[in-house]
Amino acid sequence: MKCRRCKATAVVALPSHNSAFCADCFLEFFSRQVQKGIESHRLMTPDDRVLVALSGGKDSLALMLILGRLGYNVTGLHIDLAIPESSPAARGVVERFCAKHGFPLIIRDMAAEALPIPQVKERLNRPICSACGKIKRYFFNQTAREMGFNVLATGHNLDDEVARLTSNTLRWDRAYLSDQGPALEEEGGFARKVKPLWRLTEFETANYAFLMGIENHYAPCPYSGGASFSVLKRMWMDLEEAMPGRKIDFYQGFLERGRPAFRNEEQARGEELHPCPSCGYPTSAGVCGVCRIRDALKGE
Ligand code: AMP
Ligand code: FES
Ligand code: ZN
Repeated sequence: MKCRRCKATAVVALPSHNSAFCADCFLEFFSRQVQKGIESHRLMTPDDRVLVALSGGKDSLALMLILGRLGYNVTGLHIDLAIPESSPAARGVVERFCAKHGFPLIIRDMAAEALPIPQVKERLNRPICSACGKIKRYFFNQTAREMGFNVLATGHNLDDEVARLTSNTLRWDRAYLSDQGPALEEEGGFARKVKPLWRLTEFETANYAFLMGIENHYAPCPYSGGASFSVLKRMWMDLEEAMPGRKIDFYQGFLERGRPAFRNEEQARGEELHPCPSCGYPTSAGVCGVCRIRDALKGE
């Protein structure tokens, strides 16, 4: 197999793009796809101060590296969840990565915030992943706001987005279908959220991470029963194999023609936001979710 661009021996085959690339041309392809994803939805400009949420997984590290190389003003943010089985390893990967590439890094430590996830898990009678997600989003927003970042970027890729879209569609969740996409505008004190890898699959991102020598000793969270949306992702893997290119077409078609049809439903989710009386974080409930978790922990 030969590289589509330079005819050297190809190392990465991409049936969905009807292409194969050598290492250098793949890196160029990846970079162009990210830039295209950013420009087509005006996700950010070089003047923005961008906070990149780094979990330690390959997607968010690949995102940070490519944004830095494309000339964006990026700072990493890692939330140390204080889970003994996984957090020290994840934090170590992020710290070494940022040191190696000279990226500034902010760490928010949940043990220091009196919110270690194992303790939260013990205390709450509901699935830990939703509470943990809430805590992460809270510290993403708070850090962005307090430290003057106007954009928050996460490492979600095309597979994540298509699986989420399929899940929203299976439920015909009109409110979520009205605003799913690569950008969520700034609202009520929440930073603008973007997913610059929305055009790239997990496979493409993994190849980029591998070719760029990104360390990947990521320990999965011991509480989550495998990757989220794993059934839907498997289904899409089969579909994409039978019909190459369907994944990106489905998602782009949704953004262009599907989503506008749900737009008038936006109000359905538009709850009134006001500052949490305890911490000032914008919330639609009385006291915000994280302050309620804190209260539950104090009540031990
Ligand atoms: P996940 O929900 O684990 O698939 O993660 C989705 C995205 O959220 C990742 O690509 C990161 O950008 C971000 N993220 C997840 N966990 C953390 C963390 N502990 N610290 C910082 N960012 C995170
Ligand atoms: Fe949050 Fe597992 S429960 S990462
Ligand atoms: Zn609060």
